[in-house]
Amino acid sequence: MLTADQLKEKAALRALDLVRDGMRLGLGTGSTAEHFVKALGARVAAGLNVLCVPTSEATRKLAESLNIPLSTLDEIPQLDLTVDGADELDDQLRLIKGGGGALLIEKIVATASKSMVVIADDSKEVAQLGRFPLPVEVVPVGLRATQALIKGMASEAGCDGEIKLRVGRGGEPFYTDQENLILDCHFGSIPEPEVLHFAIKRLPGVVEVGLFLGIADAAFVAGQEGLKVLRS
Ligand code: A5P
Repeated sequence: MLTADQLKEKAALRALDLVRDGMRLGLGTGSTAEHFVKALGARVAAGLNVLCVPTSEATRKLAESLNIPLSTLDEIPQLDLTVDGADELDDQLRLIKGGGGALLIEKIVATASKSMVVIADDSKEVAQLGRFPLPVEVVPVGLRATQALIKGMASEAGCDGEIKLRVGRGGEPFYTDQENLILDCHFGSIPEPEVLHFAIKRLPGVVEVGLFLGIADAAFVAGQEGLKVLRS
């Protein structure tokens, strides 16, 4: 019986098979992506030549500590491949991301990549998105007004539930790398992710929504019975 962490590692190692010399890579954020970055670091130490763009400060620090060559999207606007985890995925490769608070840069980096591959253990697979609270990144100014607008728009899109400001361990507001806040939307289920995404995304105080729709090209999902490959 493999632990959840061993399953995450298994998915991450499978994604490493896609990496070729000379590639420009997007590096995801979170515990699963961390396995990928560590394994990539070992390959770099053994001579692999890649140039990588991290999706968070945490990933940048980890990659730096492993001497992985880093760049930015300003220097290399198009990447070959981004490998990242997810909080949820359905069979159409629609994702909820942002549990680690890095959804904005994760979405920018994934969208700038020719291909995005999700790595996950099979606890992340769902028939319908929404069990995991949907993270919505908002600017701090007008927080309460934006929260009320999200609630109204979500309700019209068939999603109701509590919307909570994300807080850190000490109860203080959680700030993203870009100094924004996160509202975690406890909808339970999201019947029409595209409709909800469009409804929330257009609100002025909303920076980004943790729904990744039409972005992932494949997913490696590790379970006790083996590794499954999903393709869009
Ligand atoms: C980070 O903001 C998230 O999008 C992560 O990719 C997601 O939360 C998955 O994290 P784990 O791999 O730690 O479950």
